[in-house]
Amino acid sequence: MNIVIFGAPGSGKGTQSERLIDQYGLHHISTGELLRDHISRGTELGKVADRYISKGLLIPDDLMIDVLSDLFESKPEIREKGVIFDGFPRTIPQAEALAKMLEGYGTAVHAVVGLEVEEEELVRRMLERGKTSGRADDNLETIKKRLDVYHNQTSPLRDYYMACGTYHAINGNGTVDAIFGDIRASLDPHKDKK
Ligand code: AP5
Ligand code: MG
Repeated sequence: MNIVIFGAPGSGKGTQSERLIDQYGLHHISTGELLRDHISRGTELGKVADRYISKGLLIPDDLMIDVLSDLFESKPEIREKGVIFDGFPRTIPQAEALAKMLEGYGTAVHAVVGLEVEEEELVRRMLERGKTSGRADDNLETIKKRLDVYHNQTSPLRDYYMACGTYHAINGNGTVDAIFGDIRASLDPHKDKK
């Protein structure tokens, strides 16, 4: 089973991914974490990524798609386990590239878990995390930019996946446990799909 966990910055994608990994044994691909790892190691990709992330902007599609395709190709064990994609896709071209890439391996996105959270709560969570996270984008100015980018470039994916019939709307307000319970209830009919 391949799952996309989808939602605005701070909606709980990383938090709920951890639960999903425990529950379903999936491999986690977080493009944000991958890029932050490159930044901390000072790689060429990290240097490019840093310029965008610190401004709250998206890394260009071509680059992001190449990074993901390379990762997917180089690690067959990822493909066998099934993947939870966290923070990817973020644009329609990325979603189309993902569908094409998975089709090439005889698989697909089986479910999109859309965490829907009030904007005030998103800001509250990110500001709270910013006190200790050390993330360059967890400050009010960059958070506002990230939310603008989400509304303009990423939120159209909700309709895209609705049209595909794979979108599962989840109320992402509330406790981590209650939200995970809703995700499980929504996904369980899919769990035997390969
Ligand atoms: P990325 O790392 O993906 O960040 P994001 O989408 O902005 O989201 P976050 O990681 O901040 O939040 P989350 O939804 O994972 O929530 P979390 O579980 O942490 O991307 C960062 C940047 O990288 C992008 O801006 C872009 O520049 C670049 N990038 C990444 N992917 C890209 C792509 N595909 N294309 C182009 N550029 C890309 O929770 C947030 C906080 O809230 C935590 O402190 C958590 O403990 C807390 N929390 C979680 N759930 C709850 C709850 N139910 N109640 C209370 N608190 C909660
Ligand atoms: Mg995250």
